[in-house]
Amino acid sequence: MATQLDFTGKNVFVVGGTSGINLGVACGFAKWGANVAVASRKQDKVDAAVEQLKALGANAFGTTFDVRDNEQVAAGFAKVSDFFTETIDILISGAAGNFPAKVNDMSANAIRSVIEIDLLGTYHVMQNSFQYLTKPGASVVNISAPQAFLPMSYQSHVCSAKAGVDMVTRTLAMEWGSAGVRVNSIVPGPIANTEGMDRLAPTPQLQEAVTQSVPLGRQGTVEDIANSAGIICSEFSAYITGAILPVDGGWSQTGATVVMDKLANMMDKMPKG
Ligand code: HXC
Ligand code: NAP
Repeated sequence: MATQLDFTGKNVFVVGGTSGINLGVACGFAKWGANVAVASRKQDKVDAAVEQLKALGANAFGTTFDVRDNEQVAAGFAKVSDFFTETIDILISGAAGNFPAKVNDMSANAIRSVIEIDLLGTYHVMQNSFQYLTKPGASVVNISAPQAFLPMSYQSHVCSAKAGVDMVTRTLAMEWGSAGVRVNSIVPGPIANTEGMDRLAPTPQLQEAVTQSVPLGRQGTVEDIANSAGIICSEFSAYITGAILPVDGGWSQTGATVVMDKLANMMDKMPKG
């Protein structure tokens, strides 16, 4: 067994891997020797991510698709499979959308957009991936959020979508176990300098309130999440499947719901528009 993380020659596909946390995860696997493919909607983001991965020495590939469109996802998997020429050893599924909004303030389409990206998109990615996964041996990670098990004001759409994502994880751990495919969720806490946190805490005061609510006293880094993905996808974790793993400095144990409610109250008082 290896004594440190080493993914030399492994094929890793990160869906939604062109910015923020997921790009950080893709870069982690690139540094650990993997071949890495990424996908998201915007060609310019895909191109920039592929350049970044190549600069780290990876054999890298990118393609565009919208996870809401099952046919686009199927075509994307076919292209990624052609690039790897072999099966996918590690699949990270992290495409997501979020904006803070109360239930009463969202149109039907606003609710649908987040449910479709996060939950239906996860189904599309999981279903289209299976034929290409290494069996036995593949590791699948869905990127969830604390909202999956902590109710937060202004976040009902994300709460319900991510709760669904974690249930897909747990169900697939059972359905795909006999094929030797592991399926887990990683639950990032507040991760500094990301789109997600910029949207949820759009002022320095709100950011500080979040930081203060984390038991470890800091927001996480994308490297924190990359490292946890490396560990859970490595052979050291060969018996872990169906796990919902918070990587959040303890945030979900204590402060998350309280601080998000505080944020919601502060947002209520902010000028609209
Ligand atoms: C109310 C809103 C809104 C807001 C958009 N909508 N923003 N409603 N309040 N702040 C409504 C729109 O008016 C529209 O409804 C519907 O949502 C769809 O919006 P579009 O812009 O047309 O959709 P689309 O271009 O498909 O974009 C999807 C998106 C967008 C989710 C709205 O924000 C996006 O692409 N996000 C991806 C990046 C992202 O969100 N990253 C953060 C992930 S962080 P109508 O009725 O007008 O048509 C995360 C968890 C973080 O997931 C957890 C931290 C702890
Ligand atoms: P981000 O930078 O906005 O990352 C989202 C990624 O998904 C981007 O690459 C985006 O690229 C892609 N994407 C969005 N909608 C898509 C769609 N419909 N089809 C295909 N790709 C799509 O956000 P982030 O903050 O780093 O969040 C990344 C993940 O971590 C998400 O799953 C989020 O829920 C989770 N998370 C984040 C935090 C946090 O603190 N930031 C905390 C907990 C959980 P395109 O725009 O090119 O499509």
